[in-house]
Amino acid sequence: MQDSFFTNPTNRSDSWIQKIDRQQGKIVLTWNDSHHSLFHHIWLRDNCTCTQCGDRSGGHRYQELRSIDPDIAADEISVDSAGSLQIKWAGDGHITSYAPAWLRAHCYAAESIGKRRQQPMTWDSNLSDEIPEWEYDRIEADPAICLQMMQQIKDYGFAIINGVPIEECQIERLADIFGYIRQTHYGRVFDLISTPQQRILAQTSHAIRPHNDELFRDPIPGLFMMHCLRASECGGGASILVDGFRAAENIRAQDSELFELLCQVPIPHQRFLVDEVDDVALSARWSTIELDRLGDIAAVHINERTMAPLDVGESLTEPVYRALREILALVYAPEACVEYRLEPGQAVIMDNHRVLHARTAFNGSRHIRQCHVDRDEFFSRLRALHRRLVSAS
Ligand SMILES: [Fe+2]
Repeated sequence: MQDSFFTNPTNRSDSWIQKIDRQQGKIVLTWNDSHHSLFHHIWLRDNCTCTQCGDRSGGHRYQELRSIDPDIAADEISVDSAGSLQIKWAGDGHITSYAPAWLRAHCYAAESIGKRRQQPMTWDSNLSDEIPEWEYDRIEADPAICLQMMQQIKDYGFAIINGVPIEECQIERLADIFGYIRQTHYGRVFDLISTPQQRILAQTSHAIRPHNDELFRDPIPGLFMMHCLRASECGGGASILVDGFRAAENIRAQDSELFELLCQVPIPHQRFLVDEVDDVALSARWSTIELDRLGDIAAVHINERTMAPLDVGESLTEPVYRALREILALVYAPEACVEYRLEPGQAVIMDNHRVLHARTAFNGSRHIRQCHVDRDEFFSRLRALHRRLVSAS
């Protein structure tokens, strides 16, 4: 998961500067809650937010780092009547003003970075009794409800939406909420209908084990959504979700060596459909567990159905197989699985870099439409909506 997910872009703050200590090449601010923030002069000058130097709230830099003297020093430092830190720089006399909220939000003390970490809410089968569900018409009508639903996807990795009209075009309307549909060799939308002419396992009525989708692609599809138009009338076909982050944390707690292997060894995945119908030869490799810069679980990539022959070297072959067996046992375990039945008019949206999906075998036929949108666009829309509704309020 990403740290500093929602950076405060406003000038509102419960923090104000009580004391400034000047040191060689840096300053230490003491805040009203006794927290200390150390800021280097070079960092402060580099982050000048005046119109000449750039627009930091929008992410635009105009000045160049190499144009700043690496030994730049502050000439005068003060706090103005609005509580902003004012620095007049030695040399060219340039003046920079920093809003206290902005400074506090960007404090880079280890403790502050740690507090800004976004910890996902991991779950197991116990969530089955309390799966949160959302109503499509309320999401469409009320941006605040939409924001809550999107935050649930960020925190839990999925959301289930009721009342999506049972029409073929609806999946595209739904996808519009989250981003842009990622077009692949399936087209914009894939119709999942069990058929005797199946080309992939998903088109059969067999059970499918928990997996992340399409790991043979680069990048891997981010958000994966399914809209049910017709459920099997003959029973079976339950949907299953598994929290890959919970499994990864469990492996980390159980066996650090296996955990390291899963983090470090890229596993090859492939899909070849080269014939009179398709021209598909996809190949990519991904570590089973991906960590972020702070060591938190950032992604899991598990799908034994698309694994290519392992080519991890003679010394790693057996340990990697052992590690894969361990994590597969965890994500296939009944106590990891949240089971529900996707009914006509329901849709499920999941983070394909975290949540694994599966289904039980079924009789009869069913029709599910599915598509993907990229993860960056989803997070962008979530942050933008948060800025509109929360930060700016
Ligand atoms: Fe799938």
